[in-house]
Amino acid sequence: MDGDPVIPLSLARIAQVTGGQLAHGDPEAVVSGDVVIDSRRAAPGGLFAAVAGSRSDGHDFAAAAVAAGAVAVLATKPVPVPSVLVADVPAALAALARSVVDALPEARIAGITGSSGKTSTKDLAAQLVERLGPTIAPAGSFNNEFGHPLTVLRADASTRYLVLELSARGLGHIAYLCRVAPPRYGVVLNVGHAHAGEFGGLDQVARAKGELPEALPADGVAILNADDPRVLAMAGRTAAQVVTFSCAPEPVRGAAARVADIRAADIRLDELGRPGFTLLTPEGSAPVTLRLHGAHNVPNALAAAALARELGLDLDGIADGLRAATARSRWRMEVHQRGDGVTVINDAYNANPESVRAALDALAHLTQGGAGHGGRAFAVLGHMAELGDTARASHEDVGEYAARLGSPGLAGLIAVGEEARPLLDGARRVSWWTGEALAVPDGATALEELANRLKPSDVVLVKASRAAHLEGVAAALLGEAGQ
Ligand SMILES: Nc1ncnc2c1ncn2[C@@H]1O[C@H](COP(=O)(O)OP(=O)(O)O)[C@@H](O)[C@H]1O
Ligand SMILES: [Mg+2]
Repeated sequence: MDGDPVIPLSLARIAQVTGGQLAHGDPEAVVSGDVVIDSRRAAPGGLFAAVAGSRSDGHDFAAAAVAAGAVAVLATKPVPVPSVLVADVPAALAALARSVVDALPEARIAGITGSSGKTSTKDLAAQLVERLGPTIAPAGSFNNEFGHPLTVLRADASTRYLVLELSARGLGHIAYLCRVAPPRYGVVLNVGHAHAGEFGGLDQVARAKGELPEALPADGVAILNADDPRVLAMAGRTAAQVVTFSCAPEPVRGAAARVADIRAADIRLDELGRPGFTLLTPEGSAPVTLRLHGAHNVPNALAAAALARELGLDLDGIADGLRAATARSRWRMEVHQRGDGVTVINDAYNANPESVRAALDALAHLTQGGAGHGGRAFAVLGHMAELGDTARASHEDVGEYAARLGSPGLAGLIAVGEEARPLLDGARRVSWWTGEALAVPDGATALEELANRLKPSDVVLVKASRAAHLEGVAAALLGEAGQ
């Protein structure tokens, strides 16, 4: 993240671009380091943007940020250090980011959106595109009105590619991010239930995600998942050329359907749930095995491949890059084996109905058939947040899905917290399921219950929405310090 300095901006220029007022500062002082919103990350030459959060107000840390070397503070109220006073910090960051993009006309910008898999795909795509030249991609999920411009602001004169993650919690959000850094390449992965409550249903989610293809220029490329009808329909909402990817090697929707441009054939999973497949492209095919876990990473890999191909990476580079790519962002389908032979799948970063199903599939694979572990499967699930009116029904459906996992089936389903309880109601709908259904109030109790049950070769999945903080359960299961 440190890298070369960003494009140097004088305080006078920052005030001009943001429409702000310079206070206590030398207009000629130059910001040449990272722009941050966490004062603990303020470093010499940088700019600290003060944001008022629910727990603390960044303005209280303005002096500390400057003491740590920040040249100035972007603020919405007076602070006793060099600052640029603006009406709205996200808008100011957006304006600054846009000025950097405008100063880098050679840099090619790609945006990635979808309900699930944005970060995984962004990390895969970045590892491919880096083979072509200097690439800026966000760390983790820097994908909203703060993280997105902060990522763009890391670009410098050497940057050739920006691979950005675009998130939406409502209509207009992606269109906004596309104005901050107009992408020429846009990837849409899927339309699912993440944040569906806030949107008001899947069609609204599709409307929102479709703002990315809509924002693309005529000489751009929209990369669409042909296996998701709501995504494929976005072909009608873009002026850009359309490139499709699919996990089905043949056309799936009748004889009239065209075969997707980038496909996977012969998909299989190894004993740790890592997918292997044959990558099919117009230039030929190549065998690929991923270091990532879970079949859901196949579409993510295809999307990354399609993007890298459009940017000029050849088939060998794509296949090599996919084989070499590692998980860069934590708590997404991490599979670890303990000394005693218990396997822990830490997928605690986030959860929505589609991603919990994907994780349950991976759990089933690790305990079944080909994998040959012969162990039992336990799922420790917290609630899925932000589902709105459908929350109860969605939890019941996911619980039922868990109970229906094929032979030998789930040995135990532990629902953590009150909001996760409907998972158990759903599981109980499956009359033939013989596993144990357990409601516990918190992660500590989940750990106690597991400790009484786990035997070598068992596999435990830990997954929930961020708000449930189950990553501590996974860490404790693995005996890691610092939950
Ligand atoms: N293509 C996909 N389809 C369904 N679920 C997925 C997909 N990719 C990832 N997931 C699931 O979603 C979780 C979050 O993945 P992530 O890449 O962080 O997505 P996002 O950035 O969209 O939140 C993963 O741990 C995995 O369980
Ligand atoms: Mg993300």
